[in-house]
Amino acid sequence: MNVLNKKTVEDVAVAGKRVLVRCDFNVPLNGETITSDKRIVASLPTIEYLLRHGARVILCSHLGRPKGAPDPAFSLAPVAKRLSELLGKEVQMATDVVGESAQSLAAGLRDGEVLLLENVRFEKGETKNDPALAQQFAALADVFVNDAFGSAHRAHASTTGVADYIPAVCGYLIKKEIEFLGAALEVPKRPLAAILGGAKVSDKIGVISNLLDNVDTLIVGGGMAYTFFAAQGHTVGTSLCEPDKFDLALEMLQKAKDKGVRFLLPVDTVVGEAFDPQTPSKTVDSTQIPDGWMGLDIGEKTRVLFAEALKGSGTIIWNGPMGVSEWERFAAGTIAVATAVADSDAISIIGGGDSAAAVQKLGFASKMSHISTGGGASLEFLEGKELPGIAALNEK
Ligand code: 3PG
Repeated sequence: MNVLNKKTVEDVAVAGKRVLVRCDFNVPLNGETITSDKRIVASLPTIEYLLRHGARVILCSHLGRPKGAPDPAFSLAPVAKRLSELLGKEVQMATDVVGESAQSLAAGLRDGEVLLLENVRFEKGETKNDPALAQQFAALADVFVNDAFGSAHRAHASTTGVADYIPAVCGYLIKKEIEFLGAALEVPKRPLAAILGGAKVSDKIGVISNLLDNVDTLIVGGGMAYTFFAAQGHTVGTSLCEPDKFDLALEMLQKAKDKGVRFLLPVDTVVGEAFDPQTPSKTVDSTQIPDGWMGLDIGEKTRVLFAEALKGSGTIIWNGPMGVSEWERFAAGTIAVATAVADSDAISIIGGGDSAAAVQKLGFASKMSHISTGGGASLEFLEGKELPGIAALNEK
């Protein structure tokens, strides 16, 4: 996929037009407090461009997973407030998605004004991509801009359906995401290294398989490494393990060999007796995890090995933690990888979710070339899948 084939906000007339912008404002909340406004900040370039060019901006997004009906716990009101602070101007808020409130506020918008609709998932047609709802979205505006990279893997009424009825282009965030992720896969500065972590092989198998066609080095850590060890006949104690993925794991190891990809697994592992932040722990050889013990982080030798393997890379893609990084005692492996990526001169691309959070928490964000705002969306992109929210947009 190449977003450069898609029209962007710069390819359509927006002055005096009502422009419906699908953002991904699915931000973490603690009550009504937004605990990370990263996704809101990432949407600003498109919104500010539209405002500078005299558009009447109608924003929409989902938040969480309400059940197709209004639910105050999932209201976008906290987002309107934060967005208004960031933009330094009023953000009007509709009390519904496409109903009377949305329609009358949208109709009354003047050039350079901003309206936010309520959570699109308050409408049950949203996740079903109901054409009737898509038409109601389209009726609010003259132009549709999709800038919700984090939701681009969803074929919903506000991400794809609406594009059937009015001109549909992408915003700057989607453009930037695809430029970084797409270049890393299609024309990477080599050597290209990928580090994958996280709990399950089943979540990442598509990514591993697709990356093996492109990378020079593939590093696997985190919970999914144990399935690779067990598949090769090693003991993994009570570590996470997916026996139904043994064949796939062996297939991937073989594919790496066939393709000449350097495939690295942890050489040592920090194990604990229980899945508990206070559990007694020790470091053992990764191929000899004792009975009754579970892997919770990569060991010290592995941290050095992985950091060395990343040295001299032209591009590094990282997705997924190396251990139970939310517990301080088992975060060292993830921190070591984050440090190695931050210190390298490579183009560094961080997949959304836990690795992005780790990088932010450690204060390394500014040292990375690109931190994706998409969790599931960036994974599906790295799997080589077409993202429906982008496919639906008009070609250049
Ligand atoms: C995300 O946070 O990954 C996106 O906003 C998509 O949310 P969803 O998985 O509820 O569709």
